[in-house]
Amino acid sequence: MLNLLKNDKMFEIKRKDGLARLGEFTTPHGTVETPAIMPVINPNRELVPVKKLEKEFGTQVLITNSYILYKDQELKDKSLDRGIHDLLGFQGSIMTDSGTFQAHVYGDIDVEAEEILEFQRNIGSDVITILDEFTEPDDSRETAEEKVQKTIERAEHALRSKEDQISLTALPIQGSIYLDLRKRCGKSMGEIKGDLYPIGGVVPLMEDYRFHELAEVIIASKKGLGPRGPVHLFGAGHPMLYSLAVLLGCDLFDSSSYAKYAKRGDMMYPEGTKNIEDIDHLGCECPVCSSYDAEEIRESYKKNDIELLAEHNLWTCFREMNKIKQSIKEGSLWEMVERRVRSHPKLLETLKVLNQEYRFLERFEPRSRRRASLYTGQESIYRPTFKRIKRWILNDYIPPKKGPTVYFEPDQSKKPYSRFFREEIDMIEDYDANLLVSTQIGPVPFEMDEIYPIAQSVFPSHPANIFSLRHYKRKKKIDELIRWEGKSTLDILSKSKGPNFDEMKIKATADYQFGEGAGSALTDGTLKYVKNNKGRIKNVKLDQNHILSVRHYDGFFTLKKTGAEILLNHFSPPDLRIEVTEESAEFNRDGKSVFSKFVTHMSSDLRHGDEAIVVTENDELVATARVLLIKDEVKVFDRGLAAGVRVGFNLNENTST
Ligand code: GUN
Ligand code: ZN
Repeated sequence: MLNLLKNDKMFEIKRKDGLARLGEFTTPHGTVETPAIMPVINPNRELVPVKKLEKEFGTQVLITNSYILYKDQELKDKSLDRGIHDLLGFQGSIMTDSGTFQAHVYGDIDVEAEEILEFQRNIGSDVITILDEFTEPDDSRETAEEKVQKTIERAEHALRSKEDQISLTALPIQGSIYLDLRKRCGKSMGEIKGDLYPIGGVVPLMEDYRFHELAEVIIASKKGLGPRGPVHLFGAGHPMLYSLAVLLGCDLFDSSSYAKYAKRGDMMYPEGTKNIEDIDHLGCECPVCSSYDAEEIRESYKKNDIELLAEHNLWTCFREMNKIKQSIKEGSLWEMVERRVRSHPKLLETLKVLNQEYRFLERFEPRSRRRASLYTGQESIYRPTFKRIKRWILNDYIPPKKGPTVYFEPDQSKKPYSRFFREEIDMIEDYDANLLVSTQIGPVPFEMDEIYPIAQSVFPSHPANIFSLRHYKRKKKIDELIRWEGKSTLDILSKSKGPNFDEMKIKATADYQFGEGAGSALTDGTLKYVKNNKGRIKNVKLDQNHILSVRHYDGFFTLKKTGAEILLNHFSPPDLRIEVTEESAEFNRDGKSVFSKFVTHMSSDLRHGDEAIVVTENDELVATARVLLIKDEVKVFDRGLAAGVRVGFNLNENTST
């Protein structure tokens, strides 16, 4: 039964926010909810009792070092004899490390790669780690390359007889600060198919506060590995780093720092560390700090009892991880990270890395969220959510009319702005003018003001200036930019028969949502609208056919059958499409969801939550669907749903209508 479990259902993703995910990692000893902290247990000195970790902290997984057990004859015999779960008194999941870190600290270790792997299996560890080669940040490229090669060979060797093993195998990704090596190593480890992928060789970067390099290393490793998981960040013990690492796709963290920090009297806080000698006011409500004051904790530390400190430190770690999980659930992790990285200037630097890695991060970023995006500071403008729409407006948007551009400066608290300018818009509609509205993001085509994140974002009253009016004018090569001064502005404009505001809105939204040209294709005919009592478009009809409905929460469209057909005609494969096998199509036509393993092709432009069109390999319309997995994910996840079908179209129906 355990073997069955091994090749099936080991890491399941339940929810996502960018690269971050809430998942379930199943080992022979149970399921671990990720992201998770794995407290490090030193078999020689149990600082916080394992029972307490389990009962009070809710620890589902521990990590211990097999090399320490192996080197101590008594511990070695005991663990072989009783098994690691019995030795530690823990029936949950246990991961073991291999001695690589000791090699990094002491220069060498005396155990063979095979030997330590076999030992980990023999003591019944749930997740064993191969003996990887620790790549140091100052390793030459040549050295790092050799170490990566050796680590990959050991990984291949370790998994050769995978079928009959019970333990899961962790394959660390090394490569020092050489990003192409990290990427290559990640790719190899993914292809070898481990069960868990630690990013190794990063402790020196963290110790030296080289966080921007750490972020680059994580991203490069993830680029190579793809969305496989779980990913473990080796040695990332400080909670200050967790949210950033989770945002970049790390799922597991081992923490020995709770103990290390306690030994030197340091108390960990989500935003940094303070020494107990300097603390009068604890400023923490964990069970330890609720029961003791600073003086009492200091006294016990002076008596060499560091359990209180260690426990407080662990609470800080666990509580931070809970906040992160909640943020993933809400879709607000970017905001949490932006707040957290402000705890140290070196951490703040990492936002620059995220900005530079926009192209990669954007792939995992939904086009819309259920929740408004909150501005936290000037770096918020690097967030893919804002950057995407800015880029589209500046690079892709085509103003629909030939004449001058009129811009409005609305009260920023009144969103969506167009509702408060209905009269003005009605007046100006018959003129040859494009409409622009100044938002806190920057100048936005007025017809886009109801879509995410324009209406669904909250900024302070001073503008964030993601881009300026001048910038827009230059990019769009606009000759005449006129500020709306009231009705008199109309005198400068000439009448025209161009598209009305509703049509402009449909075009801009469709182009942004589905791709350039979608707007023209979907409006080529006689348009009619169904509006709600606030004047907002609910449904769009083209030549009597219902083609689009508007999603009330973000202003984007869902596709009706005719709308889907129009887009299929307009865009060639694979655009907008999820192509499935005949076998799957039959079910999807009946409204059943699309399973990842039946997807034969998919557009790489589709994002989580996008409206897509399900087709057969002959490009026949099967269904409309909401994307759950992007192309990168479909490629590696055999299990799970790739898309939720909105409406399936039966063949018979197809021919009769
Ligand atoms: N612990 C901290 N860093 C590492 C690493 O790179 N490899 C292994 N195996 N353990 C570690
Ligand atoms: Zn506390």
